[in-house]
Amino acid sequence: MAASILSVLTEHERALREGVARLSEGLPVAIPTETVYGLAADATRGEAVTRIYETKGRPQFNPLICHMADLEMAERYAIFDPLSIQLAQAFWPGPLTLVLPLKPECDIHPLATAGLDTVGIRVPKGFARELIRALGRPLAAPSANTSGKVSPTSAQHVAEDLGEKLSLILDGGAAPVGVESTIIRVEDGRVRLLRPGGIAVEKIEALLARPVERGLGASPAIEAPGMLASHYAPGASVRLNAKEAEAGEALIRFGGKPVEGSEQAAAVFDLSPSGDLAEAAANLFGLLKLADACGAQRIAVAPIPQHGLGEAINDRLMRAAAPRPEEN
Ligand code: TXA
Ligand code: MG
Repeated sequence: MAASILSVLTEHERALREGVARLSEGLPVAIPTETVYGLAADATRGEAVTRIYETKGRPQFNPLICHMADLEMAERYAIFDPLSIQLAQAFWPGPLTLVLPLKPECDIHPLATAGLDTVGIRVPKGFARELIRALGRPLAAPSANTSGKVSPTSAQHVAEDLGEKLSLILDGGAAPVGVESTIIRVEDGRVRLLRPGGIAVEKIEALLARPVERGLGASPAIEAPGMLASHYAPGASVRLNAKEAEAGEALIRFGGKPVEGSEQAAAVFDLSPSGDLAEAAANLFGLLKLADACGAQRIAVAPIPQHGLGEAINDRLMRAAAPRPEEN
């Protein structure tokens, strides 16, 4: 079976109808979101959620983000504190996920939350949100890639990785943000960053007029989102903060800055020739895949600034460069 690909731009109504039909049958559907493509299923149905884990090869102890149509819908499933409400009002729809206490009587299936008493909720932009509205139920959706691999930012990426395992891929073009959502948890008035992502931490700090705590502190293991070491891993190994390129490496630059030894590189890419971190985030996963595809054994990446979206970019690069499970 190969997935059919439907454009949400040119065949909008049909894409909505087909999407709702497959989701109602309990099947997972690949959908565009502003961050990365998601592998979506009805979050209230155990067999549908199971198919997400199976399709990705993802361990079932790693909970999924539940996507909602709006704050009102989210309030049916989770208990909001005042700071989380403020964040939701400022950044939804958009690339922000809030981890909140789950309402015990709600019908999100425990497989979606991995049995936790919290739930990660996000309201996505655009077509994904219309689809949730049309279905009338929350969509559990991790990134639409095989577990541990680079996240997809185009329908083509999804088709190459999971096309044989899916029946429908909805194509919304290139994902504009390009990295996953920022994950925040508010507890006792403290605001903790669980994963840097598409909303810069500085924006959250400015809105709430308080610092966001980084690092996992005394949190349970499950709060290490995106997991610990290797994740977002291309086939080639990854070398960070490269000041020069070595022979045969694929080189990824930033900001148009020349890198010594470029002439010996197998290929040279630039995340953003103008040095724009939002553009670099949007290009990150696609360029990692391209660099990987050019056959080099190693990908060298020049230093990327750590502010704004640079924090999310560096987080994903560090995971891509981390030792692989089979190597350690
Ligand atoms: O932008 C995104 O967030 C994308 C798009 C598709 O929406 N989704 C995404 O999902 O990145 P995924 O499954 O690849 O990452 C979700 C992360 C996981 O690392 C998981 O550990 C964390 O969210 N998470 C989900 N629910 C949680 C919870 N209740 N407590 C702590 N972490 C949670
Ligand atoms: Mg993922």
